[in-house]
Amino acid sequence: MSQAPATSLQDIISHAKEYGFVFPSSEIYDGLQAVYDYGQTGVELKNNLKTVWWKAMTQLHDNIVGIDAAIFMHPLTWKASGHVDGFNDPMIDNKDSKKRYRADQLLEGKAEEYREAGQPDKAQELLNEMGRLLGAEDLAGVRDLIIAEGIKCPVSGTANWTDVRQFNLMFSTQVGSVAEDASQIYLRPETAQGIFVNFLNVQKSGRMKVPFGIAQIGKAFRNEIVARQFTFRMREFEQMEMQFFVRPGSEMEWYNTWKEARMKFHKAIGLPAESLQYHDHEKLAHYANAAVDIEYKFPFGFREIEGIHSRTDFDLRNHQELSKKKQQYFDSEINQNYIPYVVETSVGADRLFLATFCNAYTRETVGEGEGQKERVYLKFHPALAPVKAAVLPLVKKDGLAEKAQSIAQLLKSSFRTVYDDNAAIGKRYTRQDLIGTPYCIAVDYQTMEDDTVTIRHRDSMEQERVHINELKDKIGYEVAMERILEAI
Ligand code: GAP
Repeated sequence: MSQAPATSLQDIISHAKEYGFVFPSSEIYDGLQAVYDYGQTGVELKNNLKTVWWKAMTQLHDNIVGIDAAIFMHPLTWKASGHVDGFNDPMIDNKDSKKRYRADQLLEGKAEEYREAGQPDKAQELLNEMGRLLGAEDLAGVRDLIIAEGIKCPVSGTANWTDVRQFNLMFSTQVGSVAEDASQIYLRPETAQGIFVNFLNVQKSGRMKVPFGIAQIGKAFRNEIVARQFTFRMREFEQMEMQFFVRPGSEMEWYNTWKEARMKFHKAIGLPAESLQYHDHEKLAHYANAAVDIEYKFPFGFREIEGIHSRTDFDLRNHQELSKKKQQYFDSEINQNYIPYVVETSVGADRLFLATFCNAYTRETVGEGEGQKERVYLKFHPALAPVKAAVLPLVKKDGLAEKAQSIAQLLKSSFRTVYDDNAAIGKRYTRQDLIGTPYCIAVDYQTMEDDTVTIRHRDSMEQERVHINELKDKIGYEVAMERILEAI
């Protein structure tokens, strides 16, 4: 058995579409850029990822509870959070191709070229200069830097650039039934603010004591200028965020604790250590005093899947100021009132999905000589796989189909099981491999005599003979979320 060539993003996109994981949104109208729909297998995988995250937060920690806040929020929320004034990307257009780019990404691309050419110092110098100019809001300076670096538009090949302008990433819409009553509101660009504005509601109604956390899973929207790389950068996406409220002064300790805990989570769901790394932020977001990304090695390189941010008391303090409602907590242990500091963990469900999918996609050459062929399968952790078991009668006749159906029925209440009798058994194994089903249960003539079946294991393709009565426990053990939660 040998490993086939490296997987490209195109392999991933094609496989995801062909086997019902991800479709372009409104495809019959040629799609909508950077918006995607999850299909029948994709939604199962995504739900499993969301469930394991939810349980890892709210089930494994006595002091973390969940909420589900609305997408629409009072517009002042976004003033307080800094998003109205500061949630911008610097954009630049090429006058010849009319293509729009993020100025910072053009410069980061150039720094990457330096790094690849063995000039890491030059790369760092460029990033530092970019950070300085962006920090000083010197957009003319950013444009000069792009020109000085000789950066050209990949489409037109020219350096005929417009000025750099700031572009707010929030989508806005109107509420109100008549135009005069209408007021502008935003589609939330992060779920975190729904947690901040409910901080006291949860603390008081749940009698929570600092340190404690509030977790949430939900949609977020950003009008990304350059949306590419499939579900990596979307305009509508889902975040899984947890705000951990701590005593001021203890935030760095908690920041380090969560940094490690989140890395452990990614390893526990099956992402290999060598495909994960930390990346400290060079340029801190407007709310953070420390920030690190956990990056996964996608086919297009190491990129962020999760951010861990020490957000100080920035959000609660600003909400207190703008709402005129105190956001303080009385800490009875030290007899003090304070606005808690916050350590946030924020992972994109879609990016985690993409990382899990890329990691699972496996192409191997199997067999020898004439019988050699390529085999593709998705090696998901069994607890994450969209379908856990497929029951396959060797043939449809002589009662085998009915026997297989009764076994599928027996297993369905414990885990997701499908029945398939269409085509030769080899083809049916392949079909299940392609969606990552970890166990195929074959029903043959021996089953009719002694109630035993074979379990075929997806990754090794090895088969073992077991009694029907053992199936529920044996497979149920392997596919339980507990297997992941125990490893966190
Ligand atoms: N509340 C903090 C926050 O929103 P962020 O680094 O901007 O921080 C957190 O986003 C995570 O959300 C990212 O690590 C990524 O996984 C996901 N994310 C952000 N923008 C995204 C986009 N356009 N498409 C898909 N996922 C995105």
